[in-house]
Amino acid sequence: MSSTPTTERQEVSLEGERVPHRLAYFETYGCQMNKLDSELAEQALAEAGFSSTTEVSQADLVVLNTCSVRDHAEHRVLSRLGVLKPGSDQRKEGSVLALIGCMGQRQGEQLFKAAPHLDIVAGTTDFVRLPELYAGVVKDRQHRTALDLSGEFEYARDPRYRSERHRAFVSIMRGCDLHCTYCIVPTTRGPEVSVPLQTIVDEVSRLVDDGVQEVTLLGQTVNSWGKQFKGEPDLGDLLAQLDRIEGLQRTRFITSHPNFFRDRFWERVRDLRTFCPYVHVPLQHGSDRVLKRMARLYTVDKYRSMVDEARESIPDVALASDWIVGFPGETEEDHQQSLARMLEFDFFHSYVFKYSPRPNTPSERRMADDIPQVDKDRRCNELLAVQTELSQKHNDALVGRTLEVLVDGESKKNADRLSGRTRLNRVAHFERPEGRELTGKMVPVTITRVTAHSLYGELAKRPAEEVRKLPVIDSGDRG
Ligand code: 5AD
Ligand code: SF4
Repeated sequence: MSSTPTTERQEVSLEGERVPHRLAYFETYGCQMNKLDSELAEQALAEAGFSSTTEVSQADLVVLNTCSVRDHAEHRVLSRLGVLKPGSDQRKEGSVLALIGCMGQRQGEQLFKAAPHLDIVAGTTDFVRLPELYAGVVKDRQHRTALDLSGEFEYARDPRYRSERHRAFVSIMRGCDLHCTYCIVPTTRGPEVSVPLQTIVDEVSRLVDDGVQEVTLLGQTVNSWGKQFKGEPDLGDLLAQLDRIEGLQRTRFITSHPNFFRDRFWERVRDLRTFCPYVHVPLQHGSDRVLKRMARLYTVDKYRSMVDEARESIPDVALASDWIVGFPGETEEDHQQSLARMLEFDFFHSYVFKYSPRPNTPSERRMADDIPQVDKDRRCNELLAVQTELSQKHNDALVGRTLEVLVDGESKKNADRLSGRTRLNRVAHFERPEGRELTGKMVPVTITRVTAHSLYGELAKRPAEEVRKLPVIDSGDRG
């Protein structure tokens, strides 16, 4: 809740009653969709007269927006709930504690047993009812639960409620129709529902009018967007429409499923002005045997065809993947396949996760979590080491190039530097120039040195080159 429009301190109305001005505090766990949901919850609260605080101890309403994707994510929230007990110096007296999002949806009322001091549990769509739930708790101090997942999620977004001025998330679909055996998301977010094209175009236009230059379209399988609409438009059609919005500079989209790029997608998006050639398409595993047990609905060969088609149209497209190590029954040979496929597809970036059985998912019900923790740890480290080598190689090829960077602000570790993202989503740091405010601006940066994870450079006088004109990286050169 950092950069909400300021709300005048005033008496406000909740359920028709006059109540004093209230402050809400948010902690957000999990994915980008959750970050967006926190902004939407913040909007709902602001419309009811709340404003935001970054100090938990001042808040009348403390909200934890939670994630269930791995056990670890839930444990972090449970221990945080322990710290937020009434009477602790973290909490204002009489304040209300709410847990929203995936963990709320999954565990519902049970959470009141684990944490009796919790006042509100709301799910992945009903969190927009927070103002009314808060008013109820204030009235009678009884628990409130709101977990309906059946209705369509229709919430008119006010573009002012977002945490960054120059970038924004836009949800183009919610839920997921797939049944990957390890995944809790179909349970916590329900079936797939796409947002109509015009609603998305209007939302993005309003965001751009309010200063946004880069949008990230969000969906669990973002490239299956549109299939239920008349004429079956696809993500390529949507990207082409958004490309016509003047002032919008970049469009990203996460997360794609390898099966759902259709009708020469890559060729159609290649020349769009706003298209960023960094695409997150998780392979998850390099062994067909494991992919089958994960019910991912593709083989490595099929993934390879997708990559070939993408690279035929966009030779230097940067692909990113998620990986799961230690899935039930994963052999050393299966793991070697993941390492080999990471190299073969020459990923630009990877996120590696250790398998975590999630309650009532098909893999949890049917397969023993039989890979010892030490093997999960080692396999995770081995994949990370290979990706570090690949990332270093990709970054080495950027030295001497002048790239377009959208400036986010001061570098985290060095106040003399600014940092931002390139079109390929790499963080670039450069010296802060005296007397010029560059946050939120698009600037050319000449890259002078790199690590595996970051680029360092200096502000350039000449314009940035087209990233697309970079030489194709030789995928045979792996050091
Ligand atoms: N255990 C480990 N990782 C998981 N992911 C999803 N479910 C699990 C699980 N049960 C990973 C997948 C997914 C990413 C968001 O989290 O790689 O793409
Ligand atoms: Fe996001 Fe999945 Fe975590 Fe829910 S469970 S917050 S959808 S990553």
